[in-house]
Amino acid sequence: MKILGIETSCDETSAAVLLEGRVASNVVSSQRCHTSFGGVVPELASREHERLMVSIADAAITEANITKKEIDVIAATAGPGLIGAVMVGLSFAQGLAWALKIPFVPVNHVEAHMFSPFIDEGTSHCAPDGAFVSLTVSGGHTLLSVIEQDLSYMVIGRTLDDAAGEAFDKTGKMLGLAYPAGPEIDRLAREGDPHFHEFPRALTSRSQTSKSYDGNFDFSFSGLKTSVLTFLQKQKPEYIAANMPNIAASIQQAIVSVLVEKTIAAARSRGIKAVSIAGGVSANSGLRTMMQFACDKAGLTLYLPGAVYSTDNAAMIATLAGVKLSRGLKAEHRYNIAPFASFSTGRPKP
Ligand code: KG4
Ligand code: ZN
Repeated sequence: MKILGIETSCDETSAAVLLEGRVASNVVSSQRCHTSFGGVVPELASREHERLMVSIADAAITEANITKKEIDVIAATAGPGLIGAVMVGLSFAQGLAWALKIPFVPVNHVEAHMFSPFIDEGTSHCAPDGAFVSLTVSGGHTLLSVIEQDLSYMVIGRTLDDAAGEAFDKTGKMLGLAYPAGPEIDRLAREGDPHFHEFPRALTSRSQTSKSYDGNFDFSFSGLKTSVLTFLQKQKPEYIAANMPNIAASIQQAIVSVLVEKTIAAARSRGIKAVSIAGGVSANSGLRTMMQFACDKAGLTLYLPGAVYSTDNAAMIATLAGVKLSRGLKAEHRYNIAPFASFSTGRPKP
């Protein structure tokens, strides 16, 4: 089966072709027009997607060495994401599927991230036998989920305020780093001391007086943001400049240690033997190293996406569509799927 995947939920315009479950092309264009604004400007993102969508899709098809007429199914992100941005890719994908008279599969962007560690081999065969705990950490989401063998999943924890990626980006902005600051904090942290300053870790065993883990799998990063701001306000600019790697390493340590502790606790509490990390923040080298160490210690297998599949990409969209189709999903000739902005965990908002 030949699947064309399309992704435009935020600031990456991407198209990918999957041939019999394997990635034959994955073209990603990251928008640079937002850098000076310190965050993604929704209207600019939509316009950039519109400008590039056709050429990116053509490039993915050419790179896969096929023609449009050979495509069997088209899949695209239907949400969650910036509604105007999602709309560009979703409309393009449905329009093309309609013109080619082939079925269309809408894909949930967050679910696609969850399955991104299994992209290379392309089908569910390489996913763990049995359930696994998935930590999905991006600029918009921080979710801890249990994914069952039949692909059904339950979200058992999520952020109550900022996402992990936002925690990197917003504290990085306070340090004067350009958006998105996550990769730069990661780079600086490699040279720094993670115990230089103890920033707070919310909702963890460390924050409980009893020192015992209370089974709360939710996250909170707004206190960290305030703590970093207060810390920086008290320091002289020369001191901050001289200690950038140490401060970055301490911020990274505060974010990553909470993510690792909760993920391992979730697996242990449910007797699950496999763990995966996905989403933009899964590219973080500190998170990868600390999670690998903790998994080895706890006897858990860790699944990680390849570096190019950590951040937004269309290969994960095509892959999830492929996995669903191989597990019995019937692709429909339906081209009026509406975009959606928010991810629903089925749990009431706090
Ligand atoms: O999944 P993604 O590409 O887009 C969203 O759906 O949000 O994630 C982007 C986020 C940004 O917040 C960015 O700072 C963060 O992922 N990120 C990182 C690293 N690479 C990307 N955060 C920490 N360390 C990294 N190496
Ligand atoms: Zn994403």
